[in-house]
Amino acid sequence: MLNFSYRNPVKVVFGAGSIAQLSKEIPQDARVLITYGGGSVKTTGTLAEVHAALSTQTVFEFGGIEPNPSLETIQRALAVVKAERIDFILAVGGGSVMDGSKFLAAAACYEGDALELLHSRGRKITGALPLGVVVTLAATGSETNNGGVLTHLATHTKLAFSHPLLFPRFAIMDPAKTLTLPARQVGNGVVDAFVHVVEQYLTYPVNAKVQDRFAEGLLLTLIEDGPKALSELDNVEVRANLMWAASQALNGLIGAGVPQDWSTHMIGHELTAAHGIDHAQTLAIVLPAMLQDQREAKHDKLVQYAERVWNLRDGNADERITAAIAKTRDFFETMQVPTRLSAYGVGAEHLDHLVGQLQAHGMIKLGERQAVTPEVSRRVLEAAL
Ligand code: NZQ
Ligand code: ZN
Repeated sequence: MLNFSYRNPVKVVFGAGSIAQLSKEIPQDARVLITYGGGSVKTTGTLAEVHAALSTQTVFEFGGIEPNPSLETIQRALAVVKAERIDFILAVGGGSVMDGSKFLAAAACYEGDALELLHSRGRKITGALPLGVVVTLAATGSETNNGGVLTHLATHTKLAFSHPLLFPRFAIMDPAKTLTLPARQVGNGVVDAFVHVVEQYLTYPVNAKVQDRFAEGLLLTLIEDGPKALSELDNVEVRANLMWAASQALNGLIGAGVPQDWSTHMIGHELTAAHGIDHAQTLAIVLPAMLQDQREAKHDKLVQYAERVWNLRDGNADERITAAIAKTRDFFETMQVPTRLSAYGVGAEHLDHLVGQLQAHGMIKLGERQAVTPEVSRRVLEAAL
């Protein structure tokens, strides 16, 4: 029987027109810092909508949080938080803006050095300003979880952090806001959500029927509606299902009590830090090679995945597993996310550095059974060339 505790306090306001409800979710006398990225929220009109919804609050802005947000940028935002005595943060954007804002919320309440907070992976967090989010990109699930990833540019280090105080107070999720995404980000979002599910599902069986069936439902939804988001550019129903799937993929529910992998993510973070490859692109590169390498250890769940997700029932178990891994790769390619390192200009000469960085960051026993050593990571990267 499984043992777990589960808690998710994020209030979700989902659907058309949900931004208009912002004012009710933030204290009327709050001093709000709206955080955003490189400017898409200005061209799409979302930022103006957010301003219009905040009628009585005193509002400030901090823009320029980059994809794969950096500690250096968040430190500049911290200066604004302090100078303007901000007491509420409202992140408007994708995973990068949400993650950067989570870290900002914690750094604002921390006496010591923010770099130290990051190196503690969030364990040293002592408090956090209240944070709300308006989602413009469905991918990471950051809107309904308490984690984030931040890059220390000076050392090319991309580190994950989490803390129970980092759950947003609320998440405003209007699927229409994602209609302006370029194809690359649509593909990235679907692949990221898919791999989040896989890393909590494709391990070994523990008789977690609810988690398994829920995970399979999310994967089937992403397989069905992901390609439609690329071909039916104004289909908001498709975007709604993708947005909810991405959020459910990483809000803690399907991972409750079950073994988790995350080796693909950890290797992926090094690829982003060293080569600037988009987060989801790194996952599309690593996952098929990782599944192939770990097919013995993951045998039973791979057979289940082949049957229930890809409807593969012909041939023996081994043949089904081979076909399921091939289908996974094909799906990523269908989402226009290339699955080979060579497509991103990374060659065999870069592998020593990547494996060295994994070691430097303590990523030496990854996977659900801590079996993914640096040697295994190297093998996987070689297979992904
Ligand atoms: O910066 P702007 O101008 O807003 O443009 C962004 C950015 O260039 C653009 N964009 C966002 N919404 C848009 C839009 N363009 C047009 N219309 C819209 N509605 O999309 C680009 C990418 O945005 P970004 O936030 O970087 O993408 P994503 O949501 O994929 O987030 C990636 C980050 O999240 C981390 C990743 O490591 C990466 O740093 N992750 C966070 C997780 C979490 N908190 O739980 C888990 C994930 O595994 C992941 O690691
Ligand atoms: Zn991810």
